[in-house]
Amino acid sequence: MAGIDLILGQVLTFTGAPFGPDPTSAVRHDRRGAVAIEGGRILATGDADRLGARYPGASRHDYGDALVLPGFVDAHAHYPQTRMIASWGKRLIDWLNHYTFPEELKFSDPAYAAETAGLYLDILLANGTTSVVSYCTIHPGSVTAFFEAAEARGMRVAAGKTCMDRNAPDGLRDTPQSAYDDSKALLERWHGRGRAIYAITPRFSPTSTPEQLAALGSLWAEHPDCPMQTHLSEQTDEIAWVKSLYPEARDYLDTYEAHGLLGPGAMFGHVIHLEPREISRLKEAGAGLVHCPTSNAFIGSGIMAVMALCTAGQIVGLATDTGGGSSFSMLRTMAAAYDLGQLRGTPLHAAQLLWLATEGSARALRMEDRIGTLAPGSEADLTVLDLSSTPAIAQRAALAEDIWEAVFPTIMMGDDRAVKAVWVGGRKALG
Ligand code: GUN
Ligand code: ZN
Repeated sequence: MAGIDLILGQVLTFTGAPFGPDPTSAVRHDRRGAVAIEGGRILATGDADRLGARYPGASRHDYGDALVLPGFVDAHAHYPQTRMIASWGKRLIDWLNHYTFPEELKFSDPAYAAETAGLYLDILLANGTTSVVSYCTIHPGSVTAFFEAAEARGMRVAAGKTCMDRNAPDGLRDTPQSAYDDSKALLERWHGRGRAIYAITPRFSPTSTPEQLAALGSLWAEHPDCPMQTHLSEQTDEIAWVKSLYPEARDYLDTYEAHGLLGPGAMFGHVIHLEPREISRLKEAGAGLVHCPTSNAFIGSGIMAVMALCTAGQIVGLATDTGGGSSFSMLRTMAAAYDLGQLRGTPLHAAQLLWLATEGSARALRMEDRIGTLAPGSEADLTVLDLSSTPAIAQRAALAEDIWEAVFPTIMMGDDRAVKAVWVGGRKALG
């Protein structure tokens, strides 16, 4: 039985999306659980004694009371914004012009892109995030740098060249044709190579002409298995700007829909100020919605109706939106989702937060059969959380009467100190 690893700890497995009347009824908790892995895949998950008996020759990695979870999946981030995270005081459009675009210009230098991509992915692993869906910059070299850095770490990532052909500074604009050609060449080089996924990436309607959106819609029609990522309905000023740029559109979503950019595999970031037609079309189309709570607070965007949308059966993932988001950590992101949910009167349960940060994001990427769960056959990306990682957390967790009270202090107060071990593709990456 050489080659089998048995990861031991507390284990939570979901039997469905926890958005029914009792979120905990969709979860199985093994107080003494195990995940058996071999050849980069999960063989079995369940009771430790049972799996120990089934795989007697396995190498054992005992994490005691720590919680074994699927690696976190960050469904929307901008790795090129790593170095300007936590930039003060601006709202979306000014924030883009003042902080973001000057930083993204630096990615014309492939060495800068490579250095930042490596730094960024190491920060993610330290935070227990094993997969991310990232924007790159307009520069094809920024995409290559990112996929190379992910490949070197064995991570499953999705990423794409950010396309913009208007309302961006010199040096950060392409054209409809070059956006199509560059994206196609990168897609053909990277999509499906190892664990790489190419995401077709128009930044958002204000920075693309209708011609560019249509060109990327054509590319997506030629490669419908690729995800398509963009921003939708983040700030009220942005929505008014979209209305003026696209006077014929019924609403913001229609600017994408009219150009072939709505369908299964679409991942729309933010989706805060949606109109009823947009909500029903997103559901009909099977598109994914991505909640970016730290960013929505940090840039002052508003509060997404995440509970209502999840309960209504929409596909929803969770994301940092680094560096509009103020953290690289999915734990800090879950805490922000909880806080914003409270402000709407709909707090998310710990089970719902953990599910969104793993399987929910994987579903939005249409990758739930590969990542984001502990199901047999899934790729062996695991994050092991110490539920008593600081004195403040430990004293609260010590009073817990069930697993949810034990894990919630780490969700609300935890950070990279809580990440005890990380396994990527069946190999220990940390801990
Ligand atoms: N909308 C268009 N570009 C961006 C970006 O980089 N970050 C955020 N938060 N929103 C955007
Ligand atoms: Zn974004």
